Amino acid sequence: MVATKRLITCALPYVNNVPHIGNIAGSHLPADIFARYCRLAGYETVFIGGSDEHGTPTEVAAAKLGVKPRELCDRYYEVHRRIYEWLDISYDNFSRTSRRVHHETTAEFFKKIYENGYVTEGTLRLPYCDHDRRFLPDRYVEGICPSCGYASARGDQCESCSTLLNPDELKEPKCVLCGNTPVFKETKHLFLKLDKLEPELKRWIEGKRRIWSQQVYSMAMGWIKEGLKPRCITRDLEWGVKVPIPGYEDKVFYVWFDAPIGYISSTKEWAQKIGKPQEWRQYWQSDKARIYHFIGKDNIPFHTIFWPGMLLANGDYSLPYRVAGLQYLNYEGGKISKSKEWGIFCENMPNAGLDSDIWRFYLTYLIPETSDTEWKWREFKERVNRELVANLGNFVYRTLSFIKNNFQGEVPDAELSREDEEVLEKSGKHAEAYEGLMESIRLRDGLRKVLEVADMGNKLFQEREPWKAVKEDRERAAATLYVCANLCYDIAILLSPFLPRSAARICEQLGVELGTLNDIANQRIKPGTRLRNVSPLFPKLDDATLEKLRKITTRVTKFEEMFKKRVSIDEFAKHDFRIAEIVSAEKIQGADRLLKLKVRVGSKEKQLVAGIGGQYSPVELVGKRIVVLDNLKPAVIRGVKSEGMLLAAVDRKRISLVVPDKPIKSGSKIR
Ligand code: 2FM
Ligand code: ZN
Repeated sequence: MVATKRLITCALPYVNNVPHIGNIAGSHLPADIFARYCRLAGYETVFIGGSDEHGTPTEVAAAKLGVKPRELCDRYYEVHRRIYEWLDISYDNFSRTSRRVHHETTAEFFKKIYENGYVTEGTLRLPYCDHDRRFLPDRYVEGICPSCGYASARGDQCESCSTLLNPDELKEPKCVLCGNTPVFKETKHLFLKLDKLEPELKRWIEGKRRIWSQQVYSMAMGWIKEGLKPRCITRDLEWGVKVPIPGYEDKVFYVWFDAPIGYISSTKEWAQKIGKPQEWRQYWQSDKARIYHFIGKDNIPFHTIFWPGMLLANGDYSLPYRVAGLQYLNYEGGKISKSKEWGIFCENMPNAGLDSDIWRFYLTYLIPETSDTEWKWREFKERVNRELVANLGNFVYRTLSFIKNNFQGEVPDAELSREDEEVLEKSGKHAEAYEGLMESIRLRDGLRKVLEVADMGNKLFQEREPWKAVKEDRERAAATLYVCANLCYDIAILLSPFLPRSAARICEQLGVELGTLNDIANQRIKPGTRLRNVSPLFPKLDDATLEKLRKITTRVTKFEEMFKKRVSIDEFAKHDFRIAEIVSAEKIQGADRLLKLKVRVGSKEKQLVAGIGGQYSPVELVGKRIVVLDNLKPAVIRGVKSEGMLLAAVDRKRISLVVPDKPIKSGSKIR
């Protein structure tokens, strides 16, 4: 059976933070380049993405910010969506695991596994925090990794050695909310019988020996050799997909159970969107389609063992054909970290004034295909200037401007010599090699092939010297330019998965439509085609621009800033702040920090209770002019009526009253 369809997926990002260049080069960009390539090569392609919204990382982040997980996800979903769109990541659908289609698909998926006998119930001894009065699922607990000794391993996986863990395997576990040592208590959970699936999984993985990269294959085989154990698929959380069986009303599915099902639900959503609701089956339930997952290295165990195990247990869907596991991208000698403000964060990229293709260019060069890579600003500038500006951009511009200036802006007609034909055939050979590289997901080498065609074109232009030939042998100059224009067209096609905007601009200037891979050998530009708007493709980067880009793109909005509650002017205007004079002050019995104050606001006198007793004695307060919120609804604090609130600044334990800096009448309004 010839597989004519391809489903490409990119690891669904958690939407509890801003994406950075490591996330782009480590999954979205390679998946996009591959998806664009597949379309170019004529495969019916669907490129699926979405946000992974459940799980402890999101709950923990939301809890720390004092917002609901949904609010956190709503905000960041938009940030992510906007960035991927700007970077031209050509998702056919970008869904959310919090959507109904996903919850329904997950429940259905689970029921089938359950009916097929691959789910078992077990009792777990789980960390329970007496202080927070809750069970602590996976990421709510951290400790020392039993496998590599890493100090901050999480309860589900060690970030350092990727080993999958259960919380009770951690040494010296701590609650991430309060830092206390949890106690272990028994609670019931559901498990996927990975042990029962092991023989089938092993056979399936062995079949991938020549298809997967050596690294992905040997990691997967390593886990099989260690022996698979049943894996818990439920969690004591509120935020997540509900478990559809009695007795589990308080629990949700483990995020790694529902997240990969998100690939299916996003495909279903896509099918709905295009008005063919059953079309998703052509990708998940047909041997005419191949599924490609693009993921970071920490996701490899989930996509080579856990997810295929779920699919085998369910039995209704195809298993992945390829799992492209990518390494990490670092930044100027260190790991990218938002808290350390180290890295390039994509949030402000769209405002930095540089075309997204230029970012895509260097990030393609940095795709960590076989080992970790590193962003270096200096290298960014050099590569852009050398490879894009001086090589590819130069070739296209010199060709098109020469045609514009010497052939009235029309692709010249010419008799091609054997040598001319050979140049075009050579370009065809490059395209074949390119196809081979792209099929093996060696995307960086694929881009190199495109640059080689440009290099070949530049050399040809240099050798043929059309600026001389046009005066001495116009026919020969015309042939050279005809060949060069066709090389530009080939370049545009080959470049389009990497730099889609630039490829479109080359075609626009050439006055042709962007073709497919097949056109490189079979289609030539018609002589007489009129060029349009010939202009240079890429700007040269200088140090001042680089510095500006660095300043803008290394900035990132902090959580506190992002979730700051805003008030409108109207809301502010409701607050009646006034200058008041303290008339008397006394301690409230049994509450050291509380003082009962009598204040005069203009001609009125009122009473308020203030928590400033730890820093101010009653005597020093009498006679002071302060600021009070005069229209606060009265309340009773410790049995004492309080009819307003005074304003004070607080810095940890230090308290300072807000006072006017000039003598001013009591009762004066603050505005
Ligand atoms: O590691 C992560 O960022 C996960 N959110 C990836 C999930 S991939 C898929 F299973 F959804
Ligand atoms: Zn705790």
